[in-house]
Amino acid sequence: MGETVIRELISEEKVCNRINELGAKISKDYEGKELHIITILKGGVFFACELAKRISIPVSIDFMQVSSYGDSRESSGIVKISKDLDEPIEGKEVLIVEDIIDSGKTLSHLKPMLLSRKPASLRLCTLLNKPERREVNVPVEYIGFDVPDEFVVGYGLDFAQKYRNLPFIGVAEEQ
Ligand code: IMP
Ligand code: MG
Repeated sequence: MGETVIRELISEEKVCNRINELGAKISKDYEGKELHIITILKGGVFFACELAKRISIPVSIDFMQVSSYGDSRESSGIVKISKDLDEPIEGKEVLIVEDIIDSGKTLSHLKPMLLSRKPASLRLCTLLNKPERREVNVPVEYIGFDVPDEFVVGYGLDFAQKYRNLPFIGVAEEQ
């Protein structure tokens, strides 16, 4: 196994512009309301912070950590909450903010769990979406970019815990 090289897929400027658009759209869609963002540690946090800064209505934010059993590149779909939310979500307009939706298994497990806590609404926003990999249908209301079926890193996304801090989206390639 050789070294890993990162090929840029989506530039920092493109990501930034797209987050501006999403922030504006979300602010408009939830006008007159307050938004409660739930983001999934660790990957979703980078995007969630950037997005939250571009939303003009009042925003609160909470964090959840889930781990899925099995190897790190594939999600088994069996998710365990390793850190639950600090605040109740009953009656709140909740937006789940994720880094990427791949098979859809994680979110298809998480959504019913959160819905049982009776939020006023529950929507999903993801920076990246890999439609070719979808195994479970999960509606996604806000999508930053569709990406091809390649392993991407940066902007919160990791490969063995590295590259989360890259300010752009890249593809990790083994040389
Ligand atoms: P899903 O349950 O298959 O939709 O898995 C989503 C999770 O898998 C994401 O939150 C990521 O942690 C991880 N993941 C899926 N694809 C990638 C990728 O290309 N790069 C980094 N992490 C990924
Ligand atoms: Mg994740």
